[in-house]
Amino acid sequence: MATMTGQPINRIDGPLKVSGKATYAYEHWDVGEPLYGFIVGATIGKGRIVQIDTTGAERSPGVRMVMTYRNAPAQGPRDASIPSQYSRAYPMLSGPDIHHYGEPVALVVATTYEQARAAASLVEVEYAVLSGHFDFAKRLDKAYAPKAVNAGLATDSAVGNFDTAFKSADVKIDQVYTTPYQFSQPMEPHCCLAVPNGDDLTVYVSAQILAEAHTAIASTLKIDPLRIRLVTPYVGGGFGSKLGIHGETILAALAARALKEPVKIAMTRQQIFHLVSVRPATSQRVRLGAGRDGRLVALGHDVTMFTSPISEYAEQSATSARGLYAAPNRLTRHRLTALDLPRGEDVRAPGEAPGLHAFESAMDELAHALNMDPIELRILNEPKVHPEEGIPFSDRRLVECMREGARRFGWERRPAKPASVRDGRWLVGYGMAAAIRGQFQMTSKAKVRMGPDGIAVVQSDMTDIGTGTYTIVAQVAADALGVPLDRVRVELGRSDYPAGAGSGGSWGASNTCTSVHRACMALREKLRIGKIPAEGMEAEGEIAAMSEEPNYKNYSIFTYGAHFAEVGVDVDTAEIRLRRMLGVFAAGRILNAKTARSQLIGGMTWGVSSALLEDGTVDARTGAFVNRDLAEYLVPVHADIPEIDAILLDGFDGKANELGAKGLGELGNCGANAAVANAVFNATGVRVRDFPITLDKVLPALPREV
Ligand code: MOS
Repeated sequence: MATMTGQPINRIDGPLKVSGKATYAYEHWDVGEPLYGFIVGATIGKGRIVQIDTTGAERSPGVRMVMTYRNAPAQGPRDASIPSQYSRAYPMLSGPDIHHYGEPVALVVATTYEQARAAASLVEVEYAVLSGHFDFAKRLDKAYAPKAVNAGLATDSAVGNFDTAFKSADVKIDQVYTTPYQFSQPMEPHCCLAVPNGDDLTVYVSAQILAEAHTAIASTLKIDPLRIRLVTPYVGGGFGSKLGIHGETILAALAARALKEPVKIAMTRQQIFHLVSVRPATSQRVRLGAGRDGRLVALGHDVTMFTSPISEYAEQSATSARGLYAAPNRLTRHRLTALDLPRGEDVRAPGEAPGLHAFESAMDELAHALNMDPIELRILNEPKVHPEEGIPFSDRRLVECMREGARRFGWERRPAKPASVRDGRWLVGYGMAAAIRGQFQMTSKAKVRMGPDGIAVVQSDMTDIGTGTYTIVAQVAADALGVPLDRVRVELGRSDYPAGAGSGGSWGASNTCTSVHRACMALREKLRIGKIPAEGMEAEGEIAAMSEEPNYKNYSIFTYGAHFAEVGVDVDTAEIRLRRMLGVFAAGRILNAKTARSQLIGGMTWGVSSALLEDGTVDARTGAFVNRDLAEYLVPVHADIPEIDAILLDGFDGKANELGAKGLGELGNCGANAAVANAVFNATGVRVRDFPITLDKVLPALPREV
């Protein structure tokens, strides 16, 4: 039988999705007539509720309940000592204090959505306003060092003597880059349907990691986790914003338990900007010191970003620089400054996306200063072992990605001199950047049962957030069991299934599939010994966390890629247009060439977006994000991405796991922004370091005569 793993087969859940039969959290209609909740948000950025009048809302047609801090049930406190922020309790309406704009101050529950929303506008809140800190640039001098950054990574790293080496370097780059607030905005808004049954509660929740959501909900509601069941067969995108639960889930659960009826809540698009997750704005100083031959002698990356004072979060933005290039003297640091804004949380490629935006721009600046080709500069500084940890690489293929990409893209046609090529009204330029991202392994379990009918049923609480989990699990299970694909049924997204690692940190595919593979191999062993009884035969598979796996200590296990972009910049208006883009990636064995490519071109598109468009703008008076919808918060549409492709190098990283597969969901979003930024420089000779690169920042410096 032909090997299924790797085949570019269509999503097996595709027909359900295109026919509207895939049920998302808000769409489970088999639970009776649910009530609808609408969240009322604070209209100030910092202060206190002094008066709240709900009588008008309560008298409004169809209203069943108005919940405020005065009548909300007691909830478990947020416990910052729990390592994963996504397992912590998430109490709502817990007091009169307002910590950020949009913070929920009331929940209105009514018979219809329209009634709830209309009544919500009648809730009258009087505030005592305090002056908050909302301006990142003004608070840079208040930065402090967090104990650790995201994923438990070290706050600082230092090798050799950076200061001395940088001071005496022949060629130096010392620049500050800034990145704005950015947001995950999945098509499916954050929503929840909570269905009570006596003391039990079923929660249809839109979440990436069910085991963590389960813990967070139980500890917030202070009820036995065994009484709560999560059901999440489909998720309409997450991008980090559903790694944890948010207000709508807790409020729906509280209201459902109080009213003893099903309650559903969906956030509006505008609410998602304030109530879910924001990628922190950053200010990044990159210092590169090299000899005249291009060899780096000193490499420094200092990142300062905002944090919420009530929920500390630090993106690992300086960590990519730790493993990318050789240099004997190194320094990377993360600092945080507190602002009264919505909490920062993971947004796709947390850390790598803004970090590589700055760092790979600086590498391009160094290549220009040295009058060297940017690829040659990177190859010259390719390390033999991990440059900070000194351990060998499991499977490092960055140079191969760059060379293959250069060949396919026609890199030799890159204008050697910036602002030297015209195509009609367009100045044309090429840019490239490297991609690097860590591979994570988390504990993950799966179960497989084969019935006498020969159908294998695989179960895990893993989610499919649009990525193709159902499909790759079926492919891996079919190969492990030696059965055709249509003999495998995949069941995901229920908290009563074995706990997988969930979808996050690009670990979902490799972790889930390795545990599924082990379950299938264990079942094969059982089948070899005995016959399938009437009730079927079952086996489990499990993988340990990377902290328990020697390979993850002894090897640097990463994924790599190289991005190439060609842009046109209008010679009169500085309008910037992507003309084409190519990425070449190495992520071990590919589980499904089609879904993998989709992930990568999605990430690359996000790179174009952060380079040229996305820019969350804060109202300095209230701490509100003023451009809080998809009309004003710009993201690319199809016409903005005329030609894009992602190439996957064939591979197998046996140090990562026995499947040889590594995660690639976020790899496409690592460095793609810098490739576009570098292309804009190559086209115009104008270097913009305050991202996104918009025409107003390019135009004043645009060359007049080309
Ligand atoms: Mo990803 S930001 O871990 O969903």
